[in-house]
Amino acid sequence: MTKNKFYVSTPIYYVNDAPHIGHAYTTILADVLSRFHRALGDDVFFLTGLDEHGQKVQQAAQARGLTPQAHCDDLAPRFSNLWTTLEISNDDFIRTTEVRHTRIVQDILQKVYDKGDIYQKEYEGLYSVAEERFITEKEAESGAFREVKSIKEKNYFFKMGKYQQRLIDYIESHPGLIQPEHRKNEMLGFLRQPLGDLCISRPKSRLAWGIEIPFDRDYVTYVWFDALINYISAIGYGSDEAKFSRWWPGVHLIGKDILTTHSIYWTTMLFALELPLPETIFAHGWWLMGESKMSKSLGNVVRPLDLIEQHGVDAVRYYLMAEMVLGNDANFTPENFIKRYNSDLANDFGNLLNRVSGLIGKYFDGIVPPAHDLSEADQAIMSQGAALYGKVRALLLDYKVDAAINEIMNLIRAVNKYMEMQAPWKLAKTDLVAAGRVLYVATEALRLSAALLRAVMPEKAARVLQILGAEDAGLSWGGLRAGTKLEAHSPLFPRIEVDKK
Ligand code: ME8
Ligand code: MG
Repeated sequence: MTKNKFYVSTPIYYVNDAPHIGHAYTTILADVLSRFHRALGDDVFFLTGLDEHGQKVQQAAQARGLTPQAHCDDLAPRFSNLWTTLEISNDDFIRTTEVRHTRIVQDILQKVYDKGDIYQKEYEGLYSVAEERFITEKEAESGAFREVKSIKEKNYFFKMGKYQQRLIDYIESHPGLIQPEHRKNEMLGFLRQPLGDLCISRPKSRLAWGIEIPFDRDYVTYVWFDALINYISAIGYGSDEAKFSRWWPGVHLIGKDILTTHSIYWTTMLFALELPLPETIFAHGWWLMGESKMSKSLGNVVRPLDLIEQHGVDAVRYYLMAEMVLGNDANFTPENFIKRYNSDLANDFGNLLNRVSGLIGKYFDGIVPPAHDLSEADQAIMSQGAALYGKVRALLLDYKVDAAINEIMNLIRAVNKYMEMQAPWKLAKTDLVAAGRVLYVATEALRLSAALLRAVMPEKAARVLQILGAEDAGLSWGGLRAGTKLEAHSPLFPRIEVDKK
């Protein structure tokens, strides 16, 4: 049987500042999906990286009195180190200043130029310095664009408009391309207006920091035309055709802020290159702080490292994945973080572990008891546990990570209730066999939950499985072996005590 493959990417983040939890969110999301696909036995290629050219980076470097390259080299490790700390299992980390990328961007420019899809013209229009692109009169009037000025210059244009109808037809016949569905409709709405051509060059006199246009050395490449190509340059397009055809096309995870560049610019670029379009472009919502988007330019950011220091890596990963309904915006507040940590991780999950291991320790010398002749209540937990993997799998394959986590937590909560009802600590005094049966059922449900939470909390979930002596016990009911000696442990998720004042 041939294996399925899963190629997933995050946006390549601008190296103008250190990452915040918005960046961490997309990267953790890609990691959770990658880990889950690996657990399914799929071949996975997980790509992330950095967008190092363009005006924003040049300005950030200038402000620090560094050359752009020195600035990038200095900031790049802040991203890659954070990903290591966050247990991100990416297979590659691409930086757009690497030759393996710049060379391919130039090859592509030449190819599209030779084909006749790039031309030069003089253009006069409004330019948003903040957004780094020409904007329409209408956009300027909306007031949403900062640092707008009128510019008249000769530039190179990509014939994006010529692919408009082909793109509309493609989106309509491939409902999975742009997800969630309301984003697809948003893009189809956008495509009801005539689609202009895309200015893909900047004169060096105005912006020097970019990839030189191969057929005109007075220009550098517009940062988005450069950046989007990372998704194929990293997997061997133009350099390793076997590798490229093995992985392309893939799944792009992005925030909704960059939906147009991915759904319109990138797809038409791929048409020009005669390459297949991505399998999926999935745009998630924003982490907000109060009313506004958490963003570098607004300065209202939460740094992942601060949270990790206080509450641990897995708690941060769990919170970000569980709290945001994939596709919608979510509000970040420290109170919210603590609330969810205490209810899901300390009370529900952590407490169940403490309870079963404590009781098995007390009544069975720490050795997992057997379970025969299940009662109705036992069987209810068993069927919910046995069905969990299928449910979680379907939800994750449908990008419903928060719902998948909730499904796991529902089982945990059901088991906690079951424990209350069955009270094995009372049963143990009259019917030790029955108490053992209940403890087996509860512990096995906990084990299955931990096995499925591995993708979200790689360290803590693995620790639970280790305590239960069940690291490789599979994903079906009954993997926990009676007779296994449990490992002693301290609480995995100590409650966060909130200062009441
Ligand atoms: O746009 N909530 O880079 P960027 C959720 N270099 N996600 C957020 C977020 C928030 N408040 N803030 C940022 C760029 N993100 C380009 C991309 S790709 C070829 C080039 C995440 O540093 C989200 O994934 O501005 C968003 O799309 C991305 O960071 C933007 O990162
Ligand atoms: Mg941005």
